Amino acid sequence: MIRKNRSKSSPVGIFDSGAGGLTVASAVKQLLPHESIIYFGDTAHLPYGDKSAEAILHYSRKITDFLLGHGCKIILAACNTVSATVWDNLNRYISGKAIPVNVIDPVVENVVRLYPGSFISIIGTKNTVNSLAYPEKIKKLSPGAKVSSLATPLLVPMIEEGFINDDISSAIINAYLSDPKLKGTETLILGCTHYPIIRDQIIDYYENKVEVIDSAMIVATRLKEILESNDMLNESSYVTDRFCVSDHTEYFGKIAAMFFHDQIRVEKIDLWR
Ligand code: DGL
Repeated sequence: MIRKNRSKSSPVGIFDSGAGGLTVASAVKQLLPHESIIYFGDTAHLPYGDKSAEAILHYSRKITDFLLGHGCKIILAACNTVSATVWDNLNRYISGKAIPVNVIDPVVENVVRLYPGSFISIIGTKNTVNSLAYPEKIKKLSPGAKVSSLATPLLVPMIEEGFINDDISSAIINAYLSDPKLKGTETLILGCTHYPIIRDQIIDYYENKVEVIDSAMIVATRLKEILESNDMLNESSYVTDRFCVSDHTEYFGKIAAMFFHDQIRVEKIDLWR
């Protein structure tokens, strides 16, 4: 149940440490074009991948308060690091005020259902990998599953600095994906919402022989099911989207333009003043 002042036309709140969650926001807009979204990228504190759980919870709660303050009916943590490290606490914080959604549960359920018996690997931030959230959740649903994980911490700063589809990103991606821990991978989960931005380079590395799982459309589909089952789909024709960051960075706008075709204005909001 959510608070009575949330209505069908209330926005969907989506947040991440930076531009990564835009991959999910863009899938949400493709699938649910009649929903208004408020996106918050915490660029002032990026990356979350090596911060303490305490700091991540502090940032996530502050952003959640901002999104709740704008009447969001859903709070979607479009960040694996948040979903892996502080989700139980954040879920409780949001519950009763809006519908909490994380990015890990829908992906795990999808992969276990669609790729039974496959050797599943996960790449993600140090925090996501060290939390063991993915292997534990996968093994809970599929006890005999073969799972391996590798922290790939350079990928988020690389992407946020605009190193995409070039020699530098190819060298870093190749160095990580050739790690022995990933040898024999049949299904690779991109366990960070930034990674779909370099999905094509990852597919090229594997010469199309590995299933590369991108959370964006899986999570957007789950969001649609949640809105439908709660009778909360927007029926009004008034749709407005906002894109907010805690600090202006050179590449947030460029990455946003890749997904939203230059149509967006990025607002700087200082939640920590
Ligand atoms: N997109 C975030 C994730 O899914 C990136 C984390 C970071 O800022 O390091 O984990």
